[in-house]
Amino acid sequence: MVHPVRLCHAGIACFTMARRFCAVIGLSKCRTGARGYRRRTEMFLALVGHLIEISKAIRVLRRLPSGFVRAKNLVWGSKMAVVTALVIGAGQRGRNYACYALDRPDGLKVVAASDVRESAREYMAKTFHIPANMIFSGWEDAVAGGKLADCAIVTTPDCEHKGPAVACANLGYHILLEKPMATSLEDCIEIREACRRNKVMLAVCHILRYDPPIALMKEVLDSGEIGEIVNVEQTEPVGFYHFAHSFVRGNWRKEEESSFTLLTKCCHDVDLILHIMEGKTCTKVSSFGSLHHFNNVYAYACGPENFGSVGDELGKSSKGTWIGIYLEPCNGTPVWPWSVVCDVEDLPGKEYKTKLLERIQDGPYGRCVYECDNDVCDNQTVMFEFDDGSTAALTMVAFTERICERLIRIRGSKGEVTYSGGSEVRVFDFLSRMTTTLKPSRQESSESSRRRYGHGEADYFTIDSFVKAVQRGDPSLILTGVDASLRSHLLTFKAEESRVRGCTIKDPERL
Ligand SMILES: NC(=O)c1ccc[n+]([C@@H]2O[C@H](COP(=O)([O-])OP(=O)(O)OC[C@H]3O[C@@H](n4cnc5c(N)ncnc54)[C@H](O)[C@@H]3O)[C@@H](O)[C@H]2O)c1
Repeated sequence: MVHPVRLCHAGIACFTMARRFCAVIGLSKCRTGARGYRRRTEMFLALVGHLIEISKAIRVLRRLPSGFVRAKNLVWGSKMAVVTALVIGAGQRGRNYACYALDRPDGLKVVAASDVRESAREYMAKTFHIPANMIFSGWEDAVAGGKLADCAIVTTPDCEHKGPAVACANLGYHILLEKPMATSLEDCIEIREACRRNKVMLAVCHILRYDPPIALMKEVLDSGEIGEIVNVEQTEPVGFYHFAHSFVRGNWRKEEESSFTLLTKCCHDVDLILHIMEGKTCTKVSSFGSLHHFNNVYAYACGPENFGSVGDELGKSSKGTWIGIYLEPCNGTPVWPWSVVCDVEDLPGKEYKTKLLERIQDGPYGRCVYECDNDVCDNQTVMFEFDDGSTAALTMVAFTERICERLIRIRGSKGEVTYSGGSEVRVFDFLSRMTTTLKPSRQESSESSRRRYGHGEADYFTIDSFVKAVQRGDPSLILTGVDASLRSHLLTFKAEESRVRGCTIKDPERL
């Protein structure tokens, strides 16, 4: 919490100011001669001190209005109101964030939900005890009757972000919006305008900023320990089966139905680079990439006879078949990626494994990866240049053992920070040539909740910050607000423009 500190500073500044003022008044009767001269000098110095304190107080007080608003909303020592939520799009991500209400019933209550799928609506009604009149079939129905809750959690597919986000902002909902904000720059701008106009808070789920080790890494950078940041090298290793699942067979495979990979997979990473390079402006961006492997050229090169039918493949052991990842044991409680193929409530009355195999045989996830209708890049790099001459390089690649565990190296003038997944951050100091290994201390979520949330604990802290921001009326708790997110989306669109046009884009931050 920042505002009590600020209030404290303001109090100290006012007290010092009053003390000096009294001293000045007390010195009004000055003698002549050496003692008088000394008194006058003291008086003069007191006056100078007085003026300095006044200017300090003004500076502190100028920062206070938002603090006062926050202090007004935050009743110290008393119980804060539970934030109510409407979930729009109750799929993987919507349920993930809604889980917070089960974990922190004093923070969040899901009071309404909307999904086009009946099974998802049933799941929400049952899990969160939502009455039938607060369950809606599409986002349009959910917003038609006015505002139902304090905030809206918008987790619909990429192409369905702008509609519900703008409608919810117009109704005065604070919004937690899944990334990408929208699939076109114009739509992202429209969302920002709607939030500004209606004075609502919006957090985009750029979960990396909330990830405890990454937050720790940022603290190290802010402390100045590694000096000026000169270069950032960041890799998003998507993972071979994750890419095949989501970007070859799944929802993000076709640009027309979703968007380009850099936006759907890496707007987080562009956002993180801007977070690391805080205070700098990007002056140039350049990108290269292609759909190198997952295309039917390979199917014909290998000979179609080498790929068995789904039925043949199901007979093999899970290690030796291309659909093996779906056949690993999942104990009847599906988590990603099984839950995407077939969720618990799908095909009621059947054992989970049976349902899963049926879905693989009949659905998109049983398709050969070389014979799908995918068209998005499976490898891409982006280069950034900043206004102080520093640089950053981002690589997104499908062909990795790691699944989305970022590799980040930040080179400063005094040292280097490395994050290579897990919970540790390594700091190397050039002067002492010593390495320090740091671990985050943020561990608020319970054991049970950590099992439920995805992306380490990043998802937990994303929703946690948002709920606290709404509860306390404090937008500063949101690290990925609408302006910061629009900026990183703009840069992502410009990077893709560079790849498509084959040129370097100058001043990419200019709207
Ligand atoms: N932050 C992250 O790391 C992260 C990770 C994965 C996905 N995502 C993003 O989250 C969003 C949701 O992804 P998901 O994996 O949960 O997808 P999903 O398909 O599991 O869930 C989307 C849900 O929205 C519902 N829906 C579709 N149209 C609707 C409408 N008009 N009104 C109401 N509901 C509607 C679908 O039925 C589905 O249940 C996507 O934009 C995706 O890119 C973000």
